[in-house]
This record gives sequence, C-alpha cells and structure tokens, in this order.
Amino acid sequence: MSNQHNQEKLSSARFSESTDAFVEEFTASIQFDQRMYKQDIQGSIAHAKMLTKAGILNEQELNDIIQGLTQIQADIEVGKVEWSIKQEDIHMNIESRLTDLIGITGKKLHTGRSRNDQVATDIRLYLRDEIDVILPELKRLQSGLVELAEREADTIMPGFTHLQTAQPVTFGHHMLAWFEMLKRDVERLQDCRKRVNTMPLGSAALAGTTYPIDRTYTAELLGFDRISENSLDGVSDRDFAIEFTGFAATLLMHLSRFSEELVLWSSAQFQFIDLPDRFCTGSSIMPQKKNPDVPELVRGKSGRVYGHLMSLLTLMKSQPLAYNKDNQEDKEPLFDTVDTVKGCLRAFADMVPAMIVKREMTYEAAKRGFSTATDLADYLVGKGLPFRDSHEVVGLAVAHGIQSGQDLSEMSLQTLQDFCDKIEEDVFEVLTLEGSVAARNHLGGTAPVQVRAAVQRARNWLNEL
Ligand code: ARG
Repeated sequence: MSNQHNQEKLSSARFSESTDAFVEEFTASIQFDQRMYKQDIQGSIAHAKMLTKAGILNEQELNDIIQGLTQIQADIEVGKVEWSIKQEDIHMNIESRLTDLIGITGKKLHTGRSRNDQVATDIRLYLRDEIDVILPELKRLQSGLVELAEREADTIMPGFTHLQTAQPVTFGHHMLAWFEMLKRDVERLQDCRKRVNTMPLGSAALAGTTYPIDRTYTAELLGFDRISENSLDGVSDRDFAIEFTGFAATLLMHLSRFSEELVLWSSAQFQFIDLPDRFCTGSSIMPQKKNPDVPELVRGKSGRVYGHLMSLLTLMKSQPLAYNKDNQEDKEPLFDTVDTVKGCLRAFADMVPAMIVKREMTYEAAKRGFSTATDLADYLVGKGLPFRDSHEVVGLAVAHGIQSGQDLSEMSLQTLQDFCDKIEEDVFEVLTLEGSVAARNHLGGTAPVQVRAAVQRARNWLNEL
C-alpha cells in the first residue's frame, strides 16, 4: 500500500484494499455530526492542556494546537471548511485539518484518547449546551402562562370531564394546570442535566490509557461536575441521551394535549379563544378559514419525538460492551429531538401570552350544561341531606331543566322547593358561577383568590430557577 493512500485512509496500515466508495459514504457521520464542531474543538483544547500539564506535550506544541484549532473554528464559522467524507466524522475532519495547518504536532493531539471517549464527550457537551438553551425557553413559556393566568384569574369557563361540562373553573386555574406540568418537565430536565454533565474523556477506546492523564483537570476545564467511574461504561453509555429524549417525549405529550385544547377552543363551536393571526394560516379555497396551524403542528410533532425515543432505546438494547458503531446512530434522533423541542417551545412561548380569551363566550358556555349541579348537591348536604339523596334530588331538578330549557339558577324558588323543601332563598348564591368558583377556596382550588396566590407561588418558583 502506498504511503499516500496510507494517509488518506483512517488507521489504514492494516488494510490491503481501500474502502468501497459506497461503504465510505455509508459509514461516515460527518454529514450530521459536524453540528458538534464547537464541542469537539473545546474538548480537544482541554485535552491538549491536560497533556501539557502531564508533560506529554510541551508549551510550544500546546500553543500551536490551540492556535490551529481556534483557526479551524473560525474557518468553520465563516463557511470556509469543506467537510470530507473520506475523513468520516467531525473528529477526523478537524484533526486532519489541524495537521494540515500545524504539521506533525497535530498528530500528537490524539495521544491518550480515542474517538470513542471523544465522541461520548462531545455529545455530552453538546447536549449540556442545548439544555442550557432549552431551560430558559421552558421558563419563558411558563412565564407566559402565569401572565395569562393572572389576567384571566376571574374569567369563568366550563371545566370538563369526558369533554362534558362538569363544573365551572377559572381560566387562570386552567392555565396554571399547564404551568404545573411544565414545572415537572423543568425538574426532569434539570435532573437529566446532572447525568449529562459527567465526563467520559479518559476512558480512551474502552480500557483507559497508559498515559499519566489527569481527568480531574480536564473535567474542570470543561465544566463537568463529575467523571465517569468506569471506562467501559464511559464510552458506551448513551442513557443520558435516552433520558433527555424521555424528557422531550413527555414535554411534547404535554404540549400536544395543550395544542388539542387550543385547536378545540379556537373553533367556531367553542369560541373560547382567538389565536393571533400571526400564528395561523388561511385556506387556499375557503375564504373564511383561519387555521390553528401552530398548535396542530406541535401536536403532530409529538410523534417524531416519541419515535426518536423508541429509536434510541432500540439502538442500545442489544449492544454488548463497550463501544459499537451502532452508537453513531444516536446523533440524528438526538439532534432532531433538540430541534423539535426548541421549535415547539419557541412557538408556544410566543403564542401563549398573545392569546385572546373571549370571556363572554366562556361564561356563556359555563352556564350551559348545569355546571353548578354539584354546588346545589353540596348546598343540600349543608341543609342536612345525605349526599346520595341530594345527588338524586339535583338529578331530578336537572332533568326538569333539560325539559324546560332552564339552568338551575333560572328556576324559581318555588320550582326548586318542589324538588326539596329544604331549599331556601340563599340557594341562588351557590347557583351562580361566581359563587361556585369562589367556594372552591383552598390550596389547589379554582377560586380566583387561589389563582392569584398560585400565580405568586409560580413567580417565586420561576425566580428561584
Ligand atoms: N463517528 C463515530 C460515532 O459517532 C465516532 C466514534 C468512532 N469510533 C470508532 N471506533 N469507529 O460514534
């Protein structure tokens, strides 16, 4: 084999023929892992500093490496770098370019490491960076919900079970239900970040390295909180990516449920809300249409994230220790999950506080469907009737209401007393929607004063984050 060929092909000294052109393309990852160029360079600089501290490189070599890598990063950022399939992945592309730039010293950078621990490190650095972008976006969406909840703390709407009118609730209370779900998502992501922020570098190919490396120092330079404690696990673990995608799948499930409500609520049948025009599109044929595209798309995107979670779980399930090429398949699902989460959060964080609530419509809707029936039953319990009997009495009153087209609050005292003689004039206070929500006045209840208190707690929580 010629010497020239030897340089083109990765670890090629043992090969007697060059890789098939298709196989080269098929096995390369540069098409997508170029996304991690910054983290790859960051990791290499830290590694080189550690090698210098350990006496493996000298100061001159370190300076050359840092200068070379900094130059490469600048070149990448202005689009001057053409990626090479022959160099397979981001790690080899950068390293070979470094050698082109600074000569033989470039070849020393890979001392005491392997692409196996290098790639594991890069993904963790990449994901940590993205988590640090996603967390504030989640918080921005939550702030929007809190703002809306405060604005609509007194707004009455029907609460549903089985999508049937159940009891009146306040719109603000409903928004804060979404806040709570997202709060758990934030906590999940923060917890996931702890495990992402573990440094595998130093695991080398699988068994560690014979060089006197100082992993603690490298970890410090890279801002890792801890170091992986087993080299085999360090190079092969991808459960941090699964965990992140699990977080994302749960978040998208929440956003998808939320989307479903926004789609329903903005329909001509509900008319609870108006989504600002800038988040909707028209129809090419029906002039009256205003489609809630953003929530529909977010609802749809939950599917791809669930798919990525399944891909990653399946990718890992049969891999023997330690690194296998299968792992290269971790990147696209992870990257797309990150992009999807960021896109959906951005759309929602922009849209939610701009939502217009049609208060008269939600109020009217709450009046339909006997939403204060439970209040009447509770009232009769207060007058000494056992709950099961009062349930029965109110059932009869509702049946009468359906027949006569009247809400309970619209019936005369005489009519109500025909169902139960314990009913008195004060019944009308509990039959109003305002009375109904105000009566649920305890932590976690829908009363406007509770919504305002919850808004305060939510703001405190956001400020502590
Ligand atoms: N491109 C590879 C990946 O994404 C990098 C690690 C390659 N290591 C190896 N031994 N082939 O996983």
